[in-house]
Amino acid sequence: MAKLGRRTVAASSGGTQRPIVRRHSVPSVLLTTAVLVATSAFAADTLDPNALKRLVHQDCGSCHGLSLKGGLGPDLRSETLEHYDADVLTGVILDGIPDTAMPPWRPLISEEEAEWIARYLLEQEAQ
Ligand code: HEC
Repeated sequence: MAKLGRRTVAASSGGTQRPIVRRHSVPSVLLTTAVLVATSAFAADTLDPNALKRLVHQDCGSCHGLSLKGGLGPDLRSETLEHYDADVLTGVILDGIPDTAMPPWRPLISEEEAEWIARYLLEQEAQ
């Protein structure tokens, strides 16, 4: 009860701001995990396009082929993914495809990073 009271006071001090102002603080636990597993590039709270490109070509590439033309996993070039919209693709990256080798990336990357990767894949020049 006391907690509830404090919350109300805190929220009302925000004026016109939405109460959830610190959305960015949420992935910090995930980022901690990511640092252990992936490179230190994920330690930053901001997006690092070079690190994300490296992730796509090395980590995704380990299954999808270094040039993303397919391997264990299917071709990920933009022309083969064009039937996806960015939101659906982001969901596939975050949650994987159940009962297949496609793993969920949610423990390793933030939603913003997954969205960046989805757009990167969709916008790549045909090779
Ligand atoms: C351990 C191997 C593996 C890794 C690593 C992996 N994938 Fe996959 N991925 C697969 C497999 C296998 C499939 C096909 C699943 C199926 O049968 O539908 C797949 C499917 C997909 C699809 C759906 C493709 C389509 O045409 O419907 C997308 C998109 C995708 N992966 C993106 C990624 C991205 C982005 C990464 C890196 C962040 C990644 N994958 C890493 C194995 C992997």
